[in-house]
Amino acid sequence: MEAALMIGQRAMILFITLISSAASYAAATPESEPAVVNIDEASFSCIRDMTPVRHFYVDNLLGDIEGTLAAANSPEGAIYPTGSVVQLVPTEVMVKREPGTFPATSDWEFFELEVDKSGSKIAKRGFVDVVNRFDGNCFACHVPAKEKWDFICESGHGCEPIPIDHKMTGALQRSDPRCGETALESGDTMALIKLKLMVSIGLTKKWLEELF
Ligand code: HEC
Repeated sequence: MEAALMIGQRAMILFITLISSAASYAAATPESEPAVVNIDEASFSCIRDMTPVRHFYVDNLLGDIEGTLAAANSPEGAIYPTGSVVQLVPTEVMVKREPGTFPATSDWEFFELEVDKSGSKIAKRGFVDVVNRFDGNCFACHVPAKEKWDFICESGHGCEPIPIDHKMTGALQRSDPRCGETALESGDTMALIKLKLMVSIGLTKKWLEELF
């Protein structure tokens, strides 16, 4: 009878110990869940409303624009923070997703958009398999810049160059239909005509076929 009582007491002590350690574990665990990057068509708008860095634009869907700018301006390269958005032309976007989303791309998700006056449509999105208007794979071209530059190509980061120059990318930015009025500079119309011609005669595709 006494022995049974002792076992009962022990069980009670063990139970209390378990409860209190579970409580202290809960207290040690951060209360807020890791931030989730929700992306839909409304996430993207006029490229020129983003923050310019050199010849491209950045933003942060979680509000950490300082972190994104710090990474973009780091002379030694840096890992972009979660939520970062990077764009060179209105129709192509890279978004830094939650840590562990897709290790092969260091959590970058690639987007191809269709844009017009009314806004953006997501034509394609994904990680290693998004094909751009030149029939190229975003990931394949950007992967040489993986080390140090977190997949951001710019110039001199090891990526194969794209067949369009900054005059053309600037003209595309200044004529983004989502911005309302275009802000064309002299020479932009010519750059856009040249670009359309290159795409329509398949020069850019041929250039890529030679590359791979
Ligand atoms: C033929 C290779 C190639 C392909 C294909 C390609 N890119 Fe790029 N991308 C580049 C290069 C090179 C640059 C840098 C160009 C520059 O700044 O002059 C660049 C620039 C960018 C930038 C600006 C930041 C940076 O890395 O400099 C973004 C964002 C981007 N590309 C997204 C995409 C997306 C999204 C796709 C697929 C839909 C794609 N790219 C396909 C080579 C490529």
